[in-house]
Amino acid sequence: MSEKKLSKLDLQEFKRALSCFATGVAVATTLDKDGTKVGMTISSFNSVSLDPPLVLWSIDNDANSYSVFAAAEFFAVNVLAMHQEQLSSQLAQRGEDKFQGLECRSGINGVQVLREYAACFECSTENIFDGGDHKIIVGRVLKLDDRETDPLIFYRGRYLKKGGSDSAKA
Ligand SMILES: Cc1cc2nc3c(=O)[nH]c(=O)nc-3n(C[C@H](O)[C@H](O)[C@H](O)COP(=O)(O)O)c2cc1C
Repeated sequence: MSEKKLSKLDLQEFKRALSCFATGVAVATTLDKDGTKVGMTISSFNSVSLDPPLVLWSIDNDANSYSVFAAAEFFAVNVLAMHQEQLSSQLAQRGEDKFQGLECRSGINGVQVLREYAACFECSTENIFDGGDHKIIVGRVLKLDDRETDPLIFYRGRYLKKGGSDSAKA
C-alpha cells in the first residue's frame, strides 16, 4: 500500500484541525535509573479499557525523556487542575531542572507524584506500541485518586479559562 506524505502546509492544517479536539492536560512522571524525577506535559492521555483498567498516552520519539519512559516499569499520570496552567508550561520545557520548586510525594515504586492535581493515575507499563513519530504507552492503573476539582482544558493551542475566555497560546 502506498503512503501519501503530507506536505508542510498539510501538516499545519492537520495540526490545526487536531487542535480543535479539546483535551485535558496532564503531567506524566517517572524515575530514571538513578532515581531522578523525569516528567513532561501531555495531552494525549486517554482511556483504553475498564476491565482490566488500562490507559494510554503517546510520547514523541524525540522527547528528551523518551528513553526513560520507554524503559520505565511504572509511571504516573497527574491530570492537572484548572489553576495549574503555569505548571503545564513548566513541565513542557526541555531542560534539566523542570521540577524546581515543585512539591512531590513518593507513589508506587517511588515514582514521584505531584502534590496537587485534579486526578492521578499510578500505572505499571503494560505495552508500548509504535505510532509513527510517537510511541503509544499503555499503562495498567494500579491506584487512582480523584480530587473532583475542575480540570485544565487545552484546545486550539490555548488553555480554557473558567467562564469561557481563553489564555494566551501555550
Ligand atoms: C498542552 C501540551 C500537551 C502536550 N502533549 C504532549 C504529548 O501528549 N506527548 C508528547 O510527546 N509531548 C507533548 N507535549 C510536548 C512536551 O511536553 C514537550 O515536548 C516537553 O518538552 C517534552 O519534555 P522532554 O523533552 O524533557 O522529554 C505537550 C505540550 C503541551 C504544552
